[in-house]
Amino acid sequence: MSKTIYILNGPNLNLLGKRQTDIYGTETLEDIVSDCAKVGKEVGLSVKLLQSNHEGEIVEMIHDAREEAAGIIINPAAYSHTSVAILDALNTFEGPVLEVHISNIHKREAFRHHSFVSERAEGVIAGFGVNGYALAMRHMGALLS
Ligand code: DQA
Repeated sequence: MSKTIYILNGPNLNLLGKRQTDIYGTETLEDIVSDCAKVGKEVGLSVKLLQSNHEGEIVEMIHDAREEAAGIIINPAAYSHTSVAILDALNTFEGPVLEVHISNIHKREAFRHHSFVSERAEGVIAGFGVNGYALAMRHMGALLS
């Protein structure tokens, strides 16, 4: 059976495709998961897409990943900039963690420049649009091969 990668998304990303399309584009989470599944087929990984608007739920999803996932691709959205709880949860996970931001957070407001999650992530992709997820997936394949 192929290893599973959790693709975890934080608050407001359920509205992807409808929300601030000038910044985040018109593709949806469903488009992202199908792009990632395609790459997954090539590199022998399966994907599970998760999204929550609640910090504690994201912490619990990461706890589930400890049993179920070989790696985590996470866009923590606004919690990137605020959540020590998500950082601590990721620190309990033993596999690789890759952080994705659709927009280039370094080109935006100063409060978006720091991410707690980056202190744990093996790598960070920002500003590649939704394509960042598929790029992260390919790198995950390399890390786990
Ligand atoms: C985001 C950037 C965050 O600053 C923001 O709060 C988001 C999305 C991105 O994907 O570019 O919700 O993580």
